[in-house]
Amino acid sequence: MTLTRLRGFQDLMGAAARSVGYIEDRARAIARRYAINEIRIPLIERLDLYERSSGETSDVVEKQMYLVRRHAESDADSGEMALRPEGTPGVVRAYIEAGLDRSDPEQRLYYSGPMLRYERPQKGRYRQFHQFGVEMFGRADAAIDAELMLMLDDLRGDLGLQLEFQVNSLGCQNCRPAFREALLAWGREHYNELCEDCHQRLERNPLRILDCKNDVRLTESAPRTIDYLCEDCSRHFETVTTLLTAGSVAYVVNPRLVRGLDYYTRTTFEVTSNALGSQNTVAAGGRYDGLVEQLGGAAVAGTGFAIGVERLALALAAESIAPGSPDAVVIALGDKALPVAMNIAHDLRAAGFRIEVASPDRGLKAQLRRADRVKARFALILGDNELERGVVQLRRLGDGNQSEIPTGGIAAAIGEVRD
Ligand code: HAM
Repeated sequence: MTLTRLRGFQDLMGAAARSVGYIEDRARAIARRYAINEIRIPLIERLDLYERSSGETSDVVEKQMYLVRRHAESDADSGEMALRPEGTPGVVRAYIEAGLDRSDPEQRLYYSGPMLRYERPQKGRYRQFHQFGVEMFGRADAAIDAELMLMLDDLRGDLGLQLEFQVNSLGCQNCRPAFREALLAWGREHYNELCEDCHQRLERNPLRILDCKNDVRLTESAPRTIDYLCEDCSRHFETVTTLLTAGSVAYVVNPRLVRGLDYYTRTTFEVTSNALGSQNTVAAGGRYDGLVEQLGGAAVAGTGFAIGVERLALALAAESIAPGSPDAVVIALGDKALPVAMNIAHDLRAAGFRIEVASPDRGLKAQLRRADRVKARFALILGDNELERGVVQLRRLGDGNQSEIPTGGIAAAIGEVRD
Protein backbone atom coordinates (compact mmCIF):
# COMPACT_ATOMS: atom_id res chain seq x y z
CA MET A 1 0.00 0.00 0.00
CA THR A 2 1.35 3.43 -0.84
CA LEU A 3 0.84 6.03 1.82
CA THR A 4 -0.68 9.16 0.37
CA ARG A 5 -2.37 12.16 1.88
CA LEU A 6 -6.14 12.09 2.29
CA ARG A 7 -8.46 13.70 -0.22
CA GLY A 8 -9.04 17.37 0.51
CA PHE A 9 -5.85 17.63 2.59
CA GLN A 10 -2.77 19.49 1.41
CA ASP A 11 0.96 19.51 2.00
CA LEU A 12 1.95 23.14 1.94
CA MET A 13 5.48 23.74 0.75
CA GLY A 14 7.47 26.06 -1.48
CA ALA A 15 5.60 29.15 -2.70
CA ALA A 16 2.28 28.02 -1.17
CA ALA A 17 3.80 27.63 2.31
CA ARG A 18 5.62 30.95 1.94
CA SER A 19 2.41 32.66 0.97
CA VAL A 20 0.33 31.19 3.79
CA GLY A 21 3.05 31.96 6.35
CA TYR A 22 3.37 35.48 5.05
CA ILE A 23 -0.36 36.18 5.31
CA GLU A 24 -0.41 34.85 8.87
CA ASP A 25 2.59 37.04 9.76
CA ARG A 26 0.95 40.13 8.30
CA ALA A 27 -2.38 39.40 9.98
CA ARG A 28 -0.58 38.98 13.32
CA ALA A 29 1.31 42.24 12.89
CA ILE A 30 -1.94 44.08 12.11
CA ALA A 31 -3.77 42.40 15.02
CA ARG A 32 -1.03 43.71 17.32
CA ARG A 33 -1.58 47.24 16.03
CA TYR A 34 -5.26 46.86 16.95
CA ALA A 35 -4.22 45.82 20.48
CA ILE A 36 -5.58 42.29 20.07
CA ASN A 37 -4.10 39.45 22.13
CA GLU A 38 -3.48 35.88 21.05
CA ILE A 39 -5.51 32.95 22.32
CA ARG A 40 -4.63 29.31 21.60
CA ILE A 41 -7.48 26.85 21.81
CA PRO A 42 -7.67 23.05 21.45
CA LEU A 43 -8.12 21.24 18.14
CA ILE A 44 -10.64 18.89 19.74
CA GLU A 45 -13.75 19.90 21.67
CA ARG A 46 -16.96 18.20 22.74
CA LEU A 47 -19.34 17.78 19.81
CA ASP A 48 -21.96 19.44 21.97
CA LEU A 49 -20.14 22.75 21.83
CA TYR A 50 -20.52 22.95 18.06
CA GLU A 51 -24.10 21.72 18.08
CA ARG A 52 -25.03 24.43 20.54
CA SER A 53 -23.18 27.26 18.78
CA SER A 54 -22.63 26.74 15.05
CA GLY A 55 -26.14 25.25 15.00
CA GLU A 56 -27.51 21.72 14.70
CA THR A 57 -29.08 22.49 11.34
CA SER A 58 -26.03 24.25 9.91
CA ASP A 59 -24.17 22.38 7.15
CA VAL A 60 -21.04 22.50 9.28
CA VAL A 61 -22.57 20.49 12.13
CA GLU A 62 -25.01 18.42 10.11
CA LYS A 63 -22.68 17.23 7.35
CA GLN A 64 -19.11 18.32 7.88
CA MET A 65 -17.96 17.28 11.34
CA TYR A 66 -14.96 15.03 11.88
CA LEU A 67 -15.80 13.00 14.95
CA VAL A 68 -12.96 11.65 17.08
CA ARG A 69 -12.78 7.98 17.96
CA ARG A 70 -10.94 7.08 21.12
CA HIS A 71 -9.13 3.86 21.90
CA ALA A 72 -10.47 3.64 25.39
CA GLU A 73 -13.36 5.31 27.12
CA SER A 74 -12.32 7.43 30.07
CA ASP A 75 -14.82 8.56 32.68
CA ALA A 76 -13.87 12.19 32.62
CA ASP A 77 -14.34 12.57 28.89
CA SER A 78 -17.52 10.75 28.13
CA GLY A 79 -19.52 12.06 25.22
CA GLU A 80 -18.62 12.60 21.63
CA MET A 81 -15.71 14.76 20.55
CA ALA A 82 -15.03 16.52 17.28
CA LEU A 83 -12.19 18.24 15.42
CA ARG A 84 -12.82 21.95 15.28
CA PRO A 85 -14.56 23.15 12.10
CA GLU A 86 -14.20 26.81 13.15
CA GLY A 87 -12.62 28.79 15.97
CA THR A 88 -15.48 30.86 17.36
CA PRO A 89 -17.15 28.21 19.59
CA GLY A 90 -13.83 27.17 21.17
CA VAL A 91 -12.87 30.78 21.87
CA VAL A 92 -16.26 31.50 23.47
CA ARG A 93 -16.00 28.36 25.59
CA ALA A 94 -12.47 29.28 26.72
CA TYR A 95 -13.61 32.83 27.52
CA ILE A 96 -16.45 31.58 29.69
CA GLU A 97 -14.37 28.83 31.28
CA ALA A 98 -11.73 31.37 32.34
CA GLY A 99 -14.51 33.41 33.98
CA LEU A 100 -13.76 36.45 31.81
CA ASP A 101 -17.44 36.99 31.00
CA ARG A 102 -17.85 38.07 34.63
CA SER A 103 -14.41 39.22 35.80
CA ASP A 104 -13.12 41.12 32.77
CA PRO A 105 -15.64 40.92 29.92
CA GLU A 106 -14.05 43.28 27.42
CA GLN A 107 -11.55 41.14 25.55
CA ARG A 108 -9.89 41.39 22.13
CA LEU A 109 -8.61 38.02 20.98
CA TYR A 110 -7.09 36.47 17.86
CA TYR A 111 -6.29 32.89 16.91
CA SER A 112 -4.62 31.17 14.02
CA GLY A 113 -4.51 27.55 12.93
CA PRO A 114 -6.04 24.61 11.07
CA MET A 115 -9.78 23.91 10.93
CA LEU A 116 -11.40 20.72 9.61
CA ARG A 117 -14.61 20.31 7.65
CA TYR A 118 -15.72 17.31 5.65
CA GLU A 119 -16.61 19.22 2.48
CA ARG A 120 -16.45 18.29 -1.19
CA PRO A 121 -12.94 19.38 -2.13
CA GLN A 122 -12.37 21.80 -5.00
CA LYS A 123 -10.10 24.76 -5.69
CA GLY A 124 -10.22 26.96 -2.60
CA ARG A 125 -12.20 24.42 -0.60
CA TYR A 126 -10.28 21.91 1.48
CA ARG A 127 -11.02 19.53 4.29
CA GLN A 128 -8.23 21.05 6.34
CA PHE A 129 -7.66 24.77 5.92
CA HIS A 130 -6.24 27.58 8.01
CA GLN A 131 -8.12 30.42 9.57
CA PHE A 132 -6.85 33.58 11.18
CA GLY A 133 -9.70 34.79 13.36
CA VAL A 134 -10.52 37.68 15.68
CA GLU A 135 -13.19 37.70 18.40
CA MET A 136 -14.11 40.85 20.34
CA PHE A 137 -16.13 40.47 23.54
CA GLY A 138 -17.99 43.01 25.65
CA ARG A 139 -18.53 45.54 22.88
CA ALA A 140 -22.13 45.94 21.75
CA ASP A 141 -21.42 49.14 19.80
CA ALA A 142 -21.31 49.48 16.03
CA ALA A 143 -17.81 51.00 16.07
CA ILE A 144 -16.22 47.67 16.87
CA ASP A 145 -18.00 45.97 13.94
CA ALA A 146 -16.62 48.68 11.66
CA GLU A 147 -13.19 48.32 13.24
CA LEU A 148 -13.09 44.62 12.35
CA MET A 149 -13.67 45.50 8.71
CA LEU A 150 -11.15 48.35 8.87
CA MET A 151 -8.65 45.83 10.13
CA LEU A 152 -9.43 43.49 7.23
CA ASP A 153 -9.08 46.44 4.88
CA ASP A 154 -5.66 47.22 6.37
CA LEU A 155 -4.62 43.64 5.64
CA ARG A 156 -6.02 43.94 2.13
CA GLY A 157 -3.97 47.10 1.53
CA ASP A 158 -0.88 45.59 3.10
CA LEU A 159 -1.08 42.56 0.79
CA GLY A 160 -1.79 44.77 -2.22
CA LEU A 161 -5.08 43.00 -3.07
CA GLN A 162 -8.35 44.19 -4.57
CA LEU A 163 -11.23 42.87 -2.44
CA GLU A 164 -14.89 43.69 -2.03
CA PHE A 165 -16.70 44.00 1.30
CA GLN A 166 -20.35 42.95 1.51
CA VAL A 167 -22.32 43.91 4.60
CA ASN A 168 -25.76 43.18 5.94
CA SER A 169 -27.71 43.19 9.17
CA LEU A 170 -29.70 40.17 10.32
CA GLY A 171 -31.49 42.06 13.08
CA CYS A 172 -31.84 40.94 16.67
CA GLN A 173 -34.21 38.73 18.66
CA ASN A 174 -36.76 41.56 18.65
CA CYS A 175 -37.00 42.11 14.92
CA ARG A 176 -35.90 38.73 13.54
CA PRO A 177 -39.25 36.96 14.25
CA ALA A 178 -41.18 39.36 11.98
CA PHE A 179 -38.65 38.85 9.23
CA ARG A 180 -38.77 35.09 9.70
CA GLU A 181 -42.54 35.15 9.36
CA ALA A 182 -42.36 37.21 6.19
CA LEU A 183 -39.76 34.84 4.75
CA LEU A 184 -41.86 31.80 5.66
CA ALA A 185 -44.90 33.32 3.98
CA TRP A 186 -42.84 34.09 0.88
CA GLY A 187 -41.40 30.55 0.93
CA ARG A 188 -44.84 28.96 1.10
CA GLU A 189 -46.03 31.16 -1.73
CA HIS A 190 -43.11 30.10 -3.94
CA TYR A 191 -42.95 26.54 -2.64
CA ASN A 192 -43.08 24.89 -6.06
CA GLU A 193 -40.26 27.03 -7.39
CA LEU A 194 -37.95 26.30 -4.47
CA CYS A 195 -35.33 23.53 -4.71
CA GLU A 196 -35.45 20.38 -2.61
CA ASP A 197 -32.87 21.69 -0.13
CA CYS A 198 -34.91 24.85 0.35
CA HIS A 199 -38.02 22.80 1.16
CA GLN A 200 -36.04 21.40 4.08
CA ARG A 201 -34.66 24.82 4.99
CA LEU A 202 -38.16 26.26 5.05
CA GLU A 203 -39.04 23.92 7.90
CA ARG A 204 -35.80 23.96 9.82
CA ASN A 205 -33.90 27.17 9.14
CA PRO A 206 -35.72 29.49 6.70
CA LEU A 207 -33.01 32.18 6.72
CA ARG A 208 -30.74 29.83 4.83
CA ILE A 209 -33.07 29.96 1.83
CA LEU A 210 -31.49 33.31 1.00
CA ASP A 211 -28.19 31.47 0.70
CA CYS A 212 -29.50 29.09 -1.99
CA LYS A 213 -27.06 28.83 -4.87
CA ASN A 214 -29.53 26.95 -7.10
CA ASP A 215 -31.80 29.82 -7.97
CA VAL A 216 -30.32 33.18 -7.12
CA ARG A 217 -32.89 35.05 -9.24
CA LEU A 218 -35.82 33.63 -7.29
CA THR A 219 -34.41 34.73 -3.92
CA GLU A 220 -34.11 38.27 -5.25
CA SER A 221 -37.86 38.60 -4.78
CA ALA A 222 -37.63 37.36 -1.16
CA PRO A 223 -38.03 39.77 1.77
CA ARG A 224 -34.87 41.63 2.77
CA THR A 225 -33.58 41.58 6.34
CA ILE A 226 -32.77 45.29 6.32
CA ASP A 227 -36.44 46.16 5.67
CA TYR A 228 -37.44 44.52 8.97
CA LEU A 229 -34.86 45.97 11.35
CA CYS A 230 -36.06 47.51 14.61
CA GLU A 231 -34.97 51.04 15.43
CA ASP A 232 -31.91 50.00 17.44
CA CYS A 233 -30.74 47.58 14.75
CA SER A 234 -31.27 50.20 12.04
CA ARG A 235 -29.22 52.74 13.93
CA HIS A 236 -26.50 50.17 14.59
CA PHE A 237 -26.32 49.25 10.91
CA GLU A 238 -26.26 52.88 9.83
CA THR A 239 -23.34 53.64 12.13
CA VAL A 240 -21.43 50.64 10.77
CA THR A 241 -21.85 51.78 7.17
CA THR A 242 -21.10 55.43 8.03
CA LEU A 243 -17.84 54.38 9.67
CA LEU A 244 -16.91 52.18 6.71
CA THR A 245 -17.48 55.09 4.35
CA ALA A 246 -15.45 57.39 6.61
CA GLY A 247 -12.67 54.79 6.64
CA SER A 248 -12.73 54.53 2.81
CA VAL A 249 -13.58 50.83 2.80
CA ALA A 250 -15.07 49.76 -0.56
CA TYR A 251 -18.27 48.01 0.54
CA VAL A 252 -21.70 47.16 -0.80
CA VAL A 253 -24.81 46.36 1.20
CA ASN A 254 -25.97 42.86 0.30
CA PRO A 255 -29.40 42.27 1.86
CA ARG A 256 -29.24 38.54 0.95
CA LEU A 257 -26.12 37.99 2.99
CA VAL A 258 -27.05 35.42 5.62
CA ARG A 259 -24.33 33.24 7.01
CA GLY A 260 -24.06 29.48 7.21
CA LEU A 261 -23.65 29.48 10.99
CA ASP A 262 -26.54 30.01 13.37
CA TYR A 263 -25.14 32.37 15.98
CA TYR A 264 -25.20 35.64 14.05
CA THR A 265 -27.20 38.73 15.03
CA ARG A 266 -27.13 42.21 13.51
CA THR A 267 -23.98 42.91 11.44
CA THR A 268 -22.73 40.21 9.09
CA PHE A 269 -20.09 40.60 6.40
CA GLU A 270 -18.10 38.75 3.78
CA VAL A 271 -14.99 39.78 1.91
CA THR A 272 -14.67 38.47 -1.63
CA SER A 273 -12.06 38.45 -4.38
CA ASN A 274 -12.91 38.80 -8.06
CA ALA A 275 -9.72 36.97 -8.94
CA LEU A 276 -11.07 33.65 -7.59
CA GLY A 277 -13.67 31.22 -8.90
CA SER A 278 -16.70 29.98 -7.00
CA GLN A 279 -14.88 29.81 -3.64
CA ASN A 280 -14.23 33.53 -3.61
CA THR A 281 -15.02 34.46 0.01
CA VAL A 282 -11.64 35.09 1.62
CA ALA A 283 -12.94 36.25 5.02
CA ALA A 284 -16.28 36.41 6.78
CA GLY A 285 -17.80 37.22 10.12
CA GLY A 286 -20.30 39.18 12.11
CA ARG A 287 -21.90 39.82 15.44
CA TYR A 288 -23.10 37.05 17.77
CA ASP A 289 -24.58 38.81 20.78
CA GLY A 290 -26.47 35.86 22.28
CA LEU A 291 -23.77 33.21 21.99
CA VAL A 292 -21.88 33.69 25.26
CA GLU A 293 -25.10 33.44 27.21
CA GLN A 294 -26.33 30.52 25.13
CA LEU A 295 -23.20 28.58 26.06
CA GLY A 296 -23.71 29.22 29.75
CA GLY A 297 -21.92 32.54 30.27
CA ALA A 298 -23.12 36.02 31.17
CA ALA A 299 -25.00 38.17 28.66
CA VAL A 300 -21.94 39.59 26.90
CA ALA A 301 -21.86 40.86 23.31
CA GLY A 302 -19.49 39.31 20.77
CA THR A 303 -18.37 40.04 17.24
CA GLY A 304 -15.59 38.74 15.02
CA PHE A 305 -14.35 37.33 11.74
CA ALA A 306 -12.16 34.61 10.29
CA ILE A 307 -9.91 34.79 7.26
CA GLY A 308 -9.51 31.73 5.01
CA VAL A 309 -5.75 31.87 4.69
CA GLU A 310 -5.42 29.49 1.70
CA ARG A 311 -8.03 31.49 -0.20
CA LEU A 312 -6.16 34.74 0.42
CA ALA A 313 -3.00 32.97 -0.80
CA LEU A 314 -4.84 31.94 -3.98
CA ALA A 315 -5.98 35.54 -4.47
CA LEU A 316 -2.36 36.73 -4.16
CA ALA A 317 -1.22 34.15 -6.71
CA ALA A 318 -4.06 35.07 -9.08
CA GLU A 319 -2.94 38.70 -8.94
CA SER A 320 0.72 37.68 -9.44
CA ILE A 321 1.76 39.01 -6.04
CA ALA A 322 4.72 37.03 -4.69
CA PRO A 323 4.62 37.58 -0.93
CA GLY A 324 7.71 37.28 1.14
CA SER A 325 9.99 38.03 -1.83
CA PRO A 326 12.98 40.30 -1.14
CA ASP A 327 12.66 44.05 -1.41
CA ALA A 328 16.10 44.06 -2.96
CA VAL A 329 18.95 41.78 -3.95
CA VAL A 330 22.36 43.38 -3.38
CA ILE A 331 24.90 42.66 -6.12
CA ALA A 332 28.57 43.26 -5.31
CA LEU A 333 31.06 43.30 -8.19
CA GLY A 334 34.64 42.90 -6.97
CA ASP A 335 36.42 42.29 -3.65
CA LYS A 336 36.46 45.91 -2.61
CA ALA A 337 32.72 46.38 -3.15
CA LEU A 338 31.73 43.28 -1.18
CA PRO A 339 32.24 44.50 2.43
CA VAL A 340 30.47 47.79 1.61
CA ALA A 341 27.62 45.89 -0.05
CA MET A 342 27.32 43.68 3.05
CA ASN A 343 27.13 46.81 5.22
CA ILE A 344 24.47 48.34 3.01
CA ALA A 345 22.45 45.09 3.30
CA HIS A 346 22.87 45.12 7.06
CA ASP A 347 21.63 48.71 7.39
CA LEU A 348 18.63 48.08 5.16
CA ARG A 349 17.71 44.95 7.14
CA ALA A 350 17.96 46.96 10.36
CA ALA A 351 15.51 49.42 8.79
CA GLY A 352 13.08 46.53 8.20
CA PHE A 353 13.64 45.68 4.53
CA ARG A 354 13.95 42.12 3.22
CA ILE A 355 17.38 41.91 1.62
CA GLU A 356 19.35 39.12 -0.01
CA VAL A 357 23.03 39.50 -0.91
CA ALA A 358 23.63 37.49 -4.10
CA SER A 359 26.65 35.21 -4.40
CA PRO A 360 29.63 37.48 -5.28
CA ASP A 361 31.32 34.52 -7.02
CA ARG A 362 28.89 34.98 -9.89
CA GLY A 363 29.00 37.62 -12.59
CA LEU A 364 26.54 40.49 -12.95
CA LYS A 365 24.22 38.61 -15.32
CA ALA A 366 23.93 35.55 -13.08
CA GLN A 367 23.31 37.72 -10.02
CA LEU A 368 20.56 39.61 -11.86
CA ARG A 369 19.02 36.28 -12.86
CA ARG A 370 18.97 35.35 -9.18
CA ALA A 371 17.19 38.62 -8.34
CA ASP A 372 14.58 37.85 -11.01
CA ARG A 373 14.16 34.30 -9.83
CA VAL A 374 13.37 35.31 -6.24
CA LYS A 375 11.06 38.07 -7.58
CA ALA A 376 12.89 40.90 -5.81
CA ARG A 377 11.53 44.36 -6.43
CA PHE A 378 14.99 45.92 -6.89
CA ALA A 379 18.59 45.03 -7.57
CA LEU A 380 21.26 47.23 -5.96
CA ILE A 381 24.46 47.04 -7.95
CA LEU A 382 27.77 48.13 -6.47
CA GLY A 383 31.10 47.98 -8.38
CA ASP A 384 34.45 49.78 -8.00
CA ASN A 385 33.24 52.78 -9.92
CA GLU A 386 30.14 53.23 -7.73
CA LEU A 387 32.21 52.61 -4.61
CA GLU A 388 34.55 55.51 -5.41
CA ARG A 389 31.64 57.89 -5.89
CA GLY A 390 29.51 56.71 -2.94
CA VAL A 391 26.59 55.66 -5.11
CA VAL A 392 24.79 52.46 -6.21
CA GLN A 393 22.87 51.52 -9.35
CA LEU A 394 19.24 50.92 -8.42
CA ARG A 395 17.48 48.71 -10.96
CA ARG A 396 13.72 48.22 -10.73
CA LEU A 397 13.22 44.65 -11.83
CA GLY A 398 9.61 45.00 -12.98
CA ASP A 399 10.53 47.26 -15.91
CA GLY A 400 14.36 47.27 -15.94
CA ASN A 401 14.42 51.01 -15.16
CA GLN A 402 17.85 51.91 -13.69
CA SER A 403 19.10 55.01 -11.90
CA GLU A 404 22.12 56.04 -9.85
CA ILE A 405 21.48 57.07 -6.27
CA PRO A 406 23.70 58.02 -3.31
CA THR A 407 24.26 55.20 -0.81
CA GLY A 408 22.49 57.19 1.90
CA GLY A 409 19.32 57.48 -0.19
CA ILE A 410 18.63 53.79 -0.83
CA ALA A 411 16.01 53.28 1.89
CA ALA A 412 13.98 56.24 0.68
CA ALA A 413 14.29 55.07 -2.92
CA ILE A 414 13.06 51.50 -2.37
CA GLY A 415 10.06 52.73 -0.45
CA GLU A 416 7.89 51.79 2.42
CA VAL A 417 9.02 49.25 4.98
CA ARG A 418 6.65 46.31 5.29
CA ASP A 419 7.79 45.26 8.77
P1 HAM B 1 -16.94 30.77 7.88
O1 HAM B 1 -17.61 31.64 6.87
O2 HAM B 1 -17.47 29.40 8.04
O3 HAM B 1 -16.98 31.56 9.25
O4 HAM B 1 -15.41 30.67 7.53
C1 HAM B 1 -14.58 31.81 7.42
C2 HAM B 1 -13.68 31.70 6.21
O5 HAM B 1 -12.92 30.48 6.27
C3 HAM B 1 -14.40 31.60 4.88
O6 HAM B 1 -14.80 32.87 4.41
C4 HAM B 1 -13.36 30.97 4.00
O7 HAM B 1 -12.45 31.96 3.54
C5 HAM B 1 -12.63 30.04 4.96
N1 HAM B 1 -13.13 28.65 4.77
C6 HAM B 1 -14.24 28.09 5.26
N2 HAM B 1 -14.34 26.81 4.86
C7 HAM B 1 -13.26 26.55 4.09
C8 HAM B 1 -12.78 25.40 3.37
N3 HAM B 1 -13.42 24.24 3.40
N4 HAM B 1 -11.63 25.51 2.68
C9 HAM B 1 -10.94 26.69 2.65
N5 HAM B 1 -11.33 27.79 3.31
C10 HAM B 1 -12.48 27.73 4.02
C11 HAM B 1 -16.45 31.09 10.42
O8 HAM B 1 -15.76 30.11 10.49
C12 HAM B 1 -16.75 31.96 11.61
N6 HAM B 1 -16.18 31.30 12.80
C13 HAM B 1 -16.18 33.35 11.41
C14 HAM B 1 -16.45 34.25 12.58
C15 HAM B 1 -15.61 34.54 13.59
N7 HAM B 1 -17.58 34.86 12.84
C16 HAM B 1 -17.47 35.53 13.98
N8 HAM B 1 -16.27 35.32 14.45
